[in-house]
Amino acid sequence: MTPSHIAFIMDGNGRWAEHRHLPRKYGHKMGTKTLDLVVNLAMKYEVKTVTFYAFSTENWTRPKSEIDYLFQIFRRFLSEIDKYRDKNVRLRFIGNLAKFPADIVDSCEKMVSETAKNDGLNVVIALNYGSWEEITTAVNSLLASGKTSVTKDDVVSALYTHDIDFPDLVVRTGGEVRLSNFLLLQSAYSEFIFTDLLWPDFDEKAFVSVLDEYASRVRKYGGLKS
Ligand code: IPE
Ligand code: IPE
Ligand code: MG
Repeated sequence: MTPSHIAFIMDGNGRWAEHRHLPRKYGHKMGTKTLDLVVNLAMKYEVKTVTFYAFSTENWTRPKSEIDYLFQIFRRFLSEIDKYRDKNVRLRFIGNLAKFPADIVDSCEKMVSETAKNDGLNVVIALNYGSWEEITTAVNSLLASGKTSVTKDDVVSALYTHDIDFPDLVVRTGGEVRLSNFLLLQSAYSEFIFTDLLWPDFDEKAFVSVLDEYASRVRKYGGLKS
């Protein structure tokens, strides 16, 4: 089976550049090419949804110069609406966007509204995303609505991902074996693949091997193997 939704933790950009004695920003620049490639591969291999972890709530602790460069990259990505519209891609964002510069927030909103009717690949970008922030925001909004007890459906509908299926597969590049505050609830029953490849080196061969590995997994959801 092909996973319907793959979520990528795009890690290893900085090290990719450092290994070449280049400033870290070159790694981020090369990482955007990989994102482009993976969007095309998702269409080619008929994955329905891809989520990319682009900026975490913890990434604010990085030097301002690196954060500013990442903003530049986001601005360039957001300026390419036509590219995604032409590919019938529907774009959405998860995370606390309000912390970003106003022009980035506006461009995100524009991208979402101008691709809202597309019914091809769903692309979800996690920007200033962190599961703890997501969950506390959800709890506060449920409390503000007057609820004194909640169901699972209430919680799901209060998450940033309320209109997005949970990931079947979470892939992390860059060799670290951790989730770094990414989709903690949504990945409760996801499969996980951790690869040592750095994100700028992730290519079609790696993508296909991730699909093959997923196809070999048996998902049981607490039941017995059928
Ligand atoms: C991931 O690459 C991209 C972001 C977190 C924005 P890193 O920048 O974390 O790269 P490494 O882990 O330092 O190599
Ligand atoms: C995770 O990578 C966040 C993103 C890919 C956006 P990090 O490089 O920030 O994670 P840690 O610090 O290694 O856990
Ligand atoms: Mg990293």
